[in-house]
Amino acid sequence: MDDLAFATGSFRIDLAVLAARLGADPEKYYRGLGQSEMSVVAEDEDIVTMGAAAAQQILDRSGGAGVRTLMFATETGIDQSKAAGVYAHRLLGLGPNVRVVELKQACYSATAAMQFAVALVARDPSEKVLVIASDIARYQLDSAAEPTQGAGAVAFTVAANPALLELHPANGVYTDDVMDFWRPNHSTTAIVDGKSSITAYLDAVAGAFDDYLAHGGVPFEQIDRFCYHQPFTKMAVKAHRHLAARAGSELDPAALQAQIEPTMGYNRRIGNSYTASVYLALLALLDGDEDLTGKRVAIASYGSGAVAEFLTGTVADGYRAGLRRAENEERLTGRTPVDDAAYLALQRTAARPDPSNFETARQTPSPFRFGGVRQDQRVYEPTA
Ligand code: CAA
Repeated sequence: MDDLAFATGSFRIDLAVLAARLGADPEKYYRGLGQSEMSVVAEDEDIVTMGAAAAQQILDRSGGAGVRTLMFATETGIDQSKAAGVYAHRLLGLGPNVRVVELKQACYSATAAMQFAVALVARDPSEKVLVIASDIARYQLDSAAEPTQGAGAVAFTVAANPALLELHPANGVYTDDVMDFWRPNHSTTAIVDGKSSITAYLDAVAGAFDDYLAHGGVPFEQIDRFCYHQPFTKMAVKAHRHLAARAGSELDPAALQAQIEPTMGYNRRIGNSYTASVYLALLALLDGDEDLTGKRVAIASYGSGAVAEFLTGTVADGYRAGLRRAENEERLTGRTPVDDAAYLALQRTAARPDPSNFETARQTPSPFRFGGVRQDQRVYEPTA
């Protein structure tokens, strides 16, 4: 992984605001789920505008030379046929000699994209692959899942001699057909069996870890930091304890927490960003104060339904020169706080009375906006 950037919705809601409506103790969300707030998208933001805003940061720095593939990972599909990445390709000004494709398997597919990208780069080391992972997590209002919503995108490039993270060939994969979480085509919100989704996640990540060990992976004790998919950050705590117990680790709870705590800073404030979440965990870790040069970092990716993958990488020499710590912090603090009424109004715009024709209000400060739909065609434009 050569560069990694993120974007998110331009509004945020403190989970205490939600707690007041749902009649919950805010501490249930702050401590029980490990979430402080969540991002909310503006009317004129969606997976394309967030994904393109994340990718633009990478292209601004290093240009598009060598990029011949753009993979767009999402479970917030905007069209049954056309890849969201094709819109992003135009907004980003990439040339015609780039293939674009969309990948789906709940929150997992960005990791599949990364592995497919590695194969392309192994075949031709002069090639770079641009991966965008972008999602908006929406559940029914007033449900137990509502505080675990969020929105965000990451973009990363996969290249030979990467500046951030050198991925190791050993990996573990796991699939099981379970109905823990899914979103039928007719629905703008996901259906979830909350409790069984947690068990399915733990089983799948453990299954992927066992497969990782069976395919040349190193033992648990040789891994320094662990980035988990974080639908809420407490889930990473549960998963890490589960893996540690399975691996017979003798680390005490404080030492285990130290291996995951620095991965949670962004997800705690953004909420669930589905495909982007595990890479936001990685970005928060890299952006942290600790010098991680030469450390072995795990990526534990989970997508409901369910597919998981476990792999590791070594943090590259000089990686700190490629970070955007101050900009990333500004991206989060720059979001506008909303109250419950404003949040509910924004949520309602996800379902339009006439989805074939509508215009969106100008709200986003992002470089790109979603203008609405004209005769069933989505309209995207630069903001400036
Ligand atoms: N102070 C502190 N903690 C409190 C508290 C209080 N006043 N009240 C409750 N808590 C704690 C509980 O003890 C619990 O912690 P533990 O799990 O560590 O025991 C935590 O807060 C949550 O409480 P509940 O279990 O009672 O919460 P809930 O039943 O209302 O819902 C949820 C929790 C099931 C996660 C729900 O939010 C949900 O369905 N979310 C969507 C599904 C999801 O995110 N699943 C995760 C795995 S699937 C996946 O990862 C894919 C994906 O992205 C969706």
